[in-house]
Amino acid sequence: MKILHVVGARPNFMKIAPVMRALSTLPGDVRQILVHTGQHYDRNLSDIFFQELEMPAPDYNLGVGSGTHAWQTAQVMTAFEPLAMELRPDWVVVVGDVNSTLAAALVCSKLGIPVAHVEAGLRSFDRSMPEEINRLLTDQIADLLFTPSPDGDENLLREGIHPDKIQRVGNVMIDTLVRLLPRAEQRWSSLQASLGVGDYLLVTLHRPANVDHPQTLAEIYTALEEASHWLPVYFPVHPRTRQALDRLGLPSGSGVLHLLEPLGYLDFLAMEAHARLVLTDSGGVQEETTYLGVPCLTARPNTERPVTLQQGTNQLVAARTSTLVEAIQRRLMEPRKPHEPPEFWDGHAAQRIARVFAGWMEKA
Ligand code: UD1
Ligand code: UDP
Repeated sequence: MKILHVVGARPNFMKIAPVMRALSTLPGDVRQILVHTGQHYDRNLSDIFFQELEMPAPDYNLGVGSGTHAWQTAQVMTAFEPLAMELRPDWVVVVGDVNSTLAAALVCSKLGIPVAHVEAGLRSFDRSMPEEINRLLTDQIADLLFTPSPDGDENLLREGIHPDKIQRVGNVMIDTLVRLLPRAEQRWSSLQASLGVGDYLLVTLHRPANVDHPQTLAEIYTALEEASHWLPVYFPVHPRTRQALDRLGLPSGSGVLHLLEPLGYLDFLAMEAHARLVLTDSGGVQEETTYLGVPCLTARPNTERPVTLQQGTNQLVAARTSTLVEAIQRRLMEPRKPHEPPEFWDGHAAQRIARVFAGWMEKA
């Protein structure tokens, strides 16, 4: 069986790495091909993860780069179509909800190449989010849908997806966390020495709704400055956010508000695991803090990962200075709640995916 995996942006790498490892243990003739669309290309958004996650180098890099949504999606489609036609894989695996995910799925559906979507069924019910459009459309055309949590199954069934296509396997991003947390912990003491930190707030922000609106970004930044009077703030800044901060002319960190370059996976995971509190708008970070039991504030009006609110340590908060400051203060005073990771967020999701493919191989 020939399986082609498509990745493009930072969170895709943590999701595909365990899937490729698990498939490589299947008996029989399984050939895996990795295609990087090039949506993310900076070392700290791409190459570093191949090293740290011990992934094979991509067999193909489409070198697409940045642009508007239509341009980027079209570029991936145009570059990927001839490759898919030439390689004719038995399955194409796409992960998550980025533009590369939808573009590859769309190409394959028109070529009659079966598509498996890992992390299917998540819904924020907010169509102003580009990722929600990518999720809805990818799930409609995928042939096999691997969901991380029961809400994913419910959403897909409600949208008319045949139950036979849906497989609840759990969370592959947590597979990577479980495997690499011991290695991240090994780095903690030297990281702690260089940062000189006790309690701190860890921040990530990159959603267009927060960072592309100057007023909203300024409100969040002011809240971070205020919070930095009570505890150090570490903020590895995504390039989209860096550009937005530069446009606003906001200072690049002051006092104990530390604006950093984007971190590699191991350093970020160590910082996450030891944070007193995390403020984010990232999907993956909501999940990782849920698993780790680290208190998390998500600066968004909704989340496509409701299980992180119900079972995890996550809480939604409006991106306004006063609301953020109040929420940070409150969470800092609260004792940590007992927590239990959601079902199948256990380090074995990718093995469940591999078993499904093994079943397909037997049928073929
Ligand atoms: C993308 C995904 C988002 C995901 C995020 C993960 C879409 C629609 N969005 O958002 O779902 O959560 O990745 O981080 O697919 N840039 C660089 N260097 C890079 C890549 C990007 O400087 O290596 C800059 C470019 O100016 C680019 C901007 O960042 O225009 C945004 O990049 P893009 O890939 O379009 O979207 P993200 O905001 O990264
Ligand atoms: N992450 C990282 N370095 C950072 C910030 C995040 O390695 O500086 C990791 C984080 O641990 C998680 C993933 O990136 O595994 C989340 O990706 P991102 O927030 O870019 O995208 P999203 O999950 O929102 O789609």
